[in-house]
Amino acid sequence: MPVCQWSQSQGPAVSGGCHSWGMTNESDRTVAVGVDWDAEAAGFDEEPDHGLRAPEVRLAWAERLRAWLPERPADVLDLGCGTGSLALLAAEQGHRVTGVDSSPAMLERARAKLAGRDAVFLTGDAAAPPVGERLFDVVLVRHVLWALPDPARVLRHWRGLLRPGGRFVLVEGVWGIVTPVGIPADRLTALLTPLAGHVRVEPLSAQTVLWGKEVSDERYAVVATV
Ligand SMILES: C[S@@+](CC[C@H](N)C(=O)[O-])C[C@H]1O[C@@H](n2cnc3c(N)ncnc32)[C@H](O)[C@@H]1O
Repeated sequence: MPVCQWSQSQGPAVSGGCHSWGMTNESDRTVAVGVDWDAEAAGFDEEPDHGLRAPEVRLAWAERLRAWLPERPADVLDLGCGTGSLALLAAEQGHRVTGVDSSPAMLERARAKLAGRDAVFLTGDAAAPPVGERLFDVVLVRHVLWALPDPARVLRHWRGLLRPGGRFVLVEGVWGIVTPVGIPADRLTALLTPLAGHVRVEPLSAQTVLWGKEVSDERYAVVATV
């Protein structure tokens, strides 16, 4: 079982969502191991596409989210929510957000960022979120699915958390050139096709403003309605 260790020069740096992650390749999947997300939390928002601090980057993500999320206020489940940057944009657009992350330090920042908003944050595993019998209109995930063991199984579980007419909004990619990691759009759409009535892929690599820099690797969003 080969193990690939990222270096900043090889791959996605931090804006790919996986700098310094240890990777274990197991034929059809790549699993990020050994990342101390609590240690990453303090500096996480310094990357343009993480903290969304630059107005033009923030606006670009807000516009994309507005296009991907329902027009009416919806229940959004943000899995692997990190510091809550996308959760905040969704809340600002009138949605009710439940964020789940396994890192208490990430969640501490998310709770502070969304203080006073219609949002709750839970500590737990994104693959099996601790939401009981609750159902949601949207499962929103950015830069997390690719690193979870057995994405096919995880997607089936998430499908069960969606109301009829609900949707997946998944922002993923393949980062790096020497030893690329991630999940290609065609693989993700193949996994979603049996679970969703309509699957739409939106390429994002050319949207420089989203990343705060030019990128040459594969970045995309999938909106899949069930
Ligand atoms: C690359 S960051 C993405 C954060 C956020 N989705 C964003 O786009 O800004 C990955 C996040 O997933 C969380 N995470 C990783 N594996 C997880 C798991 N199995 N369950 C819950 N959270 C997880 C990490 O703690 C971290 O906050």
